[in-house]
Amino acid sequence: MPKAVQIQQFGGPEVLQLVDVSIGDPGPGEVRIRHQACGLNYIDVYHRTGLYPNALPLMLGMEGAGIVEAVGEGVMHLQAGDRVAYASAPPGAYCEVRVMPARCVVKLPDGIDFEQGAAMMLKGLTVQYLLRKTQPQGGLREGDFVLFHAAAGGVGLIACQWARAMGLQLIGTAGSDAKCQLALEQGASHAINYTTEDFAARVKEITGGRGVKVVYDSIGKDTFERSLECLAPFGLLASYGNASGPVPPVNLGLLKGSLYVTRPSLFAHIATRESTQAMADDLFEMVGSGKVKIRVDQRYALAEVALAHRDLESRKTTGSSVLIP
Ligand SMILES: NC(=O)c1ccc[n+]([C@@H]2O[C@H](COP(=O)([O-])OP(=O)(O)OC[C@H]3O[C@@H](n4cnc5c(N)ncnc54)[C@H](OP(=O)(O)O)[C@@H]3O)[C@@H](O)[C@H]2O)c1
Repeated sequence: MPKAVQIQQFGGPEVLQLVDVSIGDPGPGEVRIRHQACGLNYIDVYHRTGLYPNALPLMLGMEGAGIVEAVGEGVMHLQAGDRVAYASAPPGAYCEVRVMPARCVVKLPDGIDFEQGAAMMLKGLTVQYLLRKTQPQGGLREGDFVLFHAAAGGVGLIACQWARAMGLQLIGTAGSDAKCQLALEQGASHAINYTTEDFAARVKEITGGRGVKVVYDSIGKDTFERSLECLAPFGLLASYGNASGPVPPVNLGLLKGSLYVTRPSLFAHIATRESTQAMADDLFEMVGSGKVKIRVDQRYALAEVALAHRDLESRKTTGSSVLIP
């Protein structure tokens, strides 16, 4: 029987179990995919711990790439044999084979392999909507400064390259000097080790006291208030993750200077097949043209999923990680 990763209770990496599952035929609007690679994302940690609540038992994983085995009634854009990839709810991508809604599944261009596909959909589509659509009043122009936390991570390294391609000056933060160096090599114009340096003070220095137009903050609790200090008047804080824990209730007085805060989510952006395809086309163009390279820095067998989670949470990883079923 095919294998999948499931949890019966919320908790640490030890709750991840490899189980046998029986997979049926796809229903209307669904597709059955045999995975060649599964993506690992920080949202999987939030699902495992229960920070983002779901009913138990719960299959984990939101990103994968593989081959279509069968399509259900009404699915027009895919057929058996297609190479595909996706970032999508419901969770359950850590598996050998699954049935899922076809709406968020797109064909993978020939030049992109399965590992890259599994490593880039959730993270790359996130960078797409952050840099292209989550912009401050008046938009972003060439030469503008943006601050991007965790710049050497999965989302972060894609953002460094994408920002460079847009002509932006991305100031990246990261948790070690080696990670800072990596962010610089991948397109960050400046890098700050926020475990040893005061990142708000450094941002002020780098921008000649002006601050940045937008901060992309996926760290949450540990960085939120200092991120606001980095903004120029009318600047935007996009708080899109909580790797250090959720942001506590906010005193609106902190937004003086006419600042804006948003809490964006990829899943609002990929709610329809049309929006998913348009965003994926942009991502595939960036990767196909070589402007963005997808780094798979960690590979694990599906059975090593607990180790993969430990590495991700202990800040050992850089770039993307994949599970190989
Ligand atoms: N809202 C959305 O649409 C959306 C979509 C995708 C991802 N996200 C968010 O984007 C972030 C990045 O996702 P990813 O999958 O690419 O992960 P990742 O960046 O590869 O890994 C998380 C990184 O966060 C940093 N970090 C800082 N404080 C941490 C702490 N206390 N514990 C653990 N890590 C800490 C670490 O980098 P350093 O060591 O360099 O600090 C770590 O490597 C996550 O917060 C995720 O939830 C949000």
